[in-house]
Amino acid sequence: MAIILGIESSCDDTSASICIDGKICSNIIAGQLVHQNYGGVIPELASRVHQQNIIPAVHEAISVAKIHKNDIDAVAFTRGPGLLGSLLVGTSFAKAFALANDLPLIEVNHMQAHILAHFIEENKPEFPFLCLTVSGGHTQIVLVRDYFDMEIIGQTTDDAAGEAFDKTAKLLGLPYPGGPLIDKYAKLGNKDAFKFPEPQIPGLDFSFSGLKTSIMYFVRDRLKENPEFLKENLNDVCASVQDRIISILLNKMKKASAQYQIKTIAIAGGVSANSGLRGALTDTAALLNWDIYIPKFEYCTDNAAMIAIAGYHKYLKNDFVGQDISPLARLQF
Ligand code: KG4
Ligand code: ZN
Repeated sequence: MAIILGIESSCDDTSASICIDGKICSNIIAGQLVHQNYGGVIPELASRVHQQNIIPAVHEAISVAKIHKNDIDAVAFTRGPGLLGSLLVGTSFAKAFALANDLPLIEVNHMQAHILAHFIEENKPEFPFLCLTVSGGHTQIVLVRDYFDMEIIGQTTDDAAGEAFDKTAKLLGLPYPGGPLIDKYAKLGNKDAFKFPEPQIPGLDFSFSGLKTSIMYFVRDRLKENPEFLKENLNDVCASVQDRIISILLNKMKKASAQYQIKTIAIAGGVSANSGLRGALTDTAALLNWDIYIPKFEYCTDNAAMIAIAGYHKYLKNDFVGQDISPLARLQF
């Protein structure tokens, strides 16, 4: 039997999870409301709140899983990518816990873990598959050949998809993180009300900064004509922006699927919680005969269950790291 404690602290969620023989038995997530009024995560505040939250989160993960801390066989933690101060809290905790309890340490790449969240549930994708990983800091198309044999075949050249949602929300006067709010208002709006440009980026790469700029000028000009424009049209603006972000993402996935001749398609990361994206992917799959994998909501945004499951698969390979390990804000894979 293998019991893995997973620790996630790369951005603004402190999370701890227990995985027993590949089954997630707890997944505790402590969010941070402190960033709401700043339009984005304030790194210094994030690391301080991680320090307050990490021990209670681990206690609760152990208690919900109905195990004792002495039952744990290994500690898996997010080494990167992420905010350095935030990563430092999780990494230091994991190292201290492993040292105090004489346990092996397992480093996990946060972006790989988002993809490996697909191996938590019973319905698992078969290798090879393509994963669209869309989060607050990354937008990648990943060719997944095996658990840890992954290749990035497309990525954003500027902003991430989550950033496009969050920055749009900020321009519309909505609090951080704006993605879930745009999703909510978009459900009530007309996606054809306004047309935003689709960037012409070659290959499988993405760009979202032009979209952000066009939304900025659009909002400025409309507010000049009518100061009540946003109040009167918020739902339609959200629906139109969301529709454009989704079409940018799915058009590249169609291209990737054709180029690599792979029809097993997954989505992962915070933006994969978006109801419009989930619906559009389902529609595209029906048209193109794709076998699709969409994570449960709790495994889309940051969580330690994905770290624990990734850690479990590394544990099976005896893939451990030493106490001299340090976090890496730009960890690659
Ligand atoms: O994966 P994640 O929790 O953290 C990072 O690794 O960055 O992703 C957070 C991102 C944020 O940009 C947030 O606005 C976005 O995911 N997000 C959404 C939704 N839920 C979270 N974006 C659009 N629609 C949603 N429902
Ligand atoms: Zn993430």
